[in-house]
Amino acid sequence: MSFDDCKTALQSSSICVLPTETVYGLACSAFSQEAVEKVFTLKNRPSSNPLIVHVLDHNEATKISYTSQLSEKLAKAFWPGPLTMVLPKKKCIPYKITAGLNTVAIRSPSHLEFRKMLRSVKLPLAAPSANKSNKISPTRYQDVLNEFGNDCPPLIDGGPCQIGIESTVLDLTTEIPEILRLGSCSKEDIESVICCDIKSPQGKENINYFSSKSRKSPGQMNKHYAPETPLFIYPSFEKLISESFSEYSDIILLPCKDYNIKNSASKMIIHYLSENGDPKEIAKNLYHALRCLDDFKKDKIFTSLFPWDNGVLSAVNDRLIRASTAFM
Ligand code: TXA
Ligand code: MG
Repeated sequence: MSFDDCKTALQSSSICVLPTETVYGLACSAFSQEAVEKVFTLKNRPSSNPLIVHVLDHNEATKISYTSQLSEKLAKAFWPGPLTMVLPKKKCIPYKITAGLNTVAIRSPSHLEFRKMLRSVKLPLAAPSANKSNKISPTRYQDVLNEFGNDCPPLIDGGPCQIGIESTVLDLTTEIPEILRLGSCSKEDIESVICCDIKSPQGKENINYFSSKSRKSPGQMNKHYAPETPLFIYPSFEKLISESFSEYSDIILLPCKDYNIKNSASKMIIHYLSENGDPKEIAKNLYHALRCLDDFKKDKIFTSLFPWDNGVLSAVNDRLIRASTAFM
């Protein structure tokens, strides 16, 4: 499947899968209701969950939304990259994309293949993650093929996604900007650019946020991004590795080889998310690891949350909590 197949699909009210630096996206023209409907159908996505629209730059964002000095400043600092801004929408964006909201979420991806496509089709492209609703986002070409099987639309292989978790979603329509979804662009990164405090669910003290049913971002449902294998979360990796697992034949997911399980049975699978605990590496490998670990068809995966003082690891915690079955 080639660039041209994907381009043809986008120009004829159809859909394709494109790589981004965060996760693979299921793309369609933001101006085609028919194509947008195909995205919702293939993903089995509830129509109440709006899509992100991808553009080349802030100038293009201005054509589909009411941008501001603030959005321009943020775009200068973080675009192209993993920051999505929620802005008041212009008429040209169909309500089907925004789930009836008067706002639209916009980002400018940095992946070269995606940008080449934006330049080539000259359309804003709506693209949610290329997975079935509530499943783990794909971060590799093969993950997308496994996800959609025979139903897979034309797809470009852009290699493993360098960031590995979805973009930070920042609402700019409220008096105080608010992070609606944590990502690798952290609260501190954003505050250092706009020189004022913003709201964010980041931090242990806000853990209730993650189980709150009344979220502002409709996609932020409680259970999300989940593997098939039930995932259990310990309060810390230290507690996890001090446990005796001699009777178990499950999976343990650890940051790196600095952590050793003292009493593990030989039947247990121990998986490391990185070589040396680098937060970016952990985020990059998380979803692919969860997908691979599902293939072992074990009963349980045990892991822990990371410290909340690191922006990227807080976003990883957010995804782990959503993927989890229970806390230990
Ligand atoms: O990194 C990413 O953002 C990836 C790549 C493909 O760009 N896309 C992605 O899209 O993660 P999706 O559809 O899986 O997640 C979109 C998130 C959802 O949580 C949705 O509720 C939120 O953005 N969202 C979209 N439009 C919104 C709006 N108008 N107001 C509030 N939240 C919105
Ligand atoms: Mg998604």
